[in-house]
Amino acid sequence: MKDPIIKFDKVTKRFGKVTVLDELDFEVGQGEKVTIIGPSGSGKSTVLRILMTLEKINGGVVYVGGDPLWHERRSGNKLVDAREPHLRRMREQMGMVFQQFNLFPHMSVLRNLTEAPRCVLGLSKQDATARAEELLEMVGLNEHADKFPGQLSGGQQQRVGIARALAMRPKIMLFDEPTSALDPELVGEVLNVIRSIGAKHDLTMLMVTHEMHFARQFSDRVCFFDKGKIKEQGTPEEIFTAPKEERTREFLHAVLNPDE
Ligand SMILES: Nc1ncnc2c1ncn2[C@@H]1O[C@H](COP(=O)(O)OP(=O)(O)OP(=O)(O)O)[C@@H](O)[C@H]1O
Ligand SMILES: [Mg+2]
Repeated sequence: MKDPIIKFDKVTKRFGKVTVLDELDFEVGQGEKVTIIGPSGSGKSTVLRILMTLEKINGGVVYVGGDPLWHERRSGNKLVDAREPHLRRMREQMGMVFQQFNLFPHMSVLRNLTEAPRCVLGLSKQDATARAEELLEMVGLNEHADKFPGQLSGGQQQRVGIARALAMRPKIMLFDEPTSALDPELVGEVLNVIRSIGAKHDLTMLMVTHEMHFARQFSDRVCFFDKGKIKEQGTPEEIFTAPKEERTREFLHAVLNPDE
């Protein structure tokens, strides 16, 4: 892989005495679309939350765009714990979409999209609004700009969530089970939006999902996580048709045949 935009170098994450990520090595290339699959508790969300600077790490180094995320370089290239301004600069390169949408409930759809570009990036009201309107058009919600999140369906709320993340013009989009909280008939509209933004080739996308059919056609690479490590990874073809590891086969069998 040339120039990974994301690199986990022997990253360890513990919650109390429980080691959730165990010296994890993981890379994502510039523009690559990667899906993470794996059993509950295997550390999938933790990987995304570390990238979004929502969880600190206990060991190793995470790099984003070649710069350490949780550290700053001091003289002699020594790495020290990062301070807030560094974390903020690094965080701006990433957008995250959550399972539970996490919209601002007391703000209109439009303001959900303009708030961070105005407050964090310093965009004028006019520029932020123009950007928001373009994104709402893209996710098919331009007629809902003045509504509040509570007045929208789950699928519509999640499309707002995606547009809101994109409004910051991130280089990397992180999705944590973006369709798991949706009624089955609303899943398709959200996956379609994700598919269409995936067509922007420079956007790097890292997604945790249980939508195996989508993962198969969407990703360049699928990573199967188990107990805080990558147990197996490969092209969708390799993982879904000829997994090498017994644990991967077991997991795929269970998720693809939930009624057995
Ligand atoms: N804030 C926290 N405090 C304590 N333990 C936590 C915390 N967040 C996560 N964990 C634990 O870390 C482990 C990994 O959690 P994580 O959320 O990354 O799993 P996951 O693979 O995303 O699972 P799921 O498919 O259920 O979402 C789990 O055992 C979880 O209980
Ligand atoms: Mg999770």
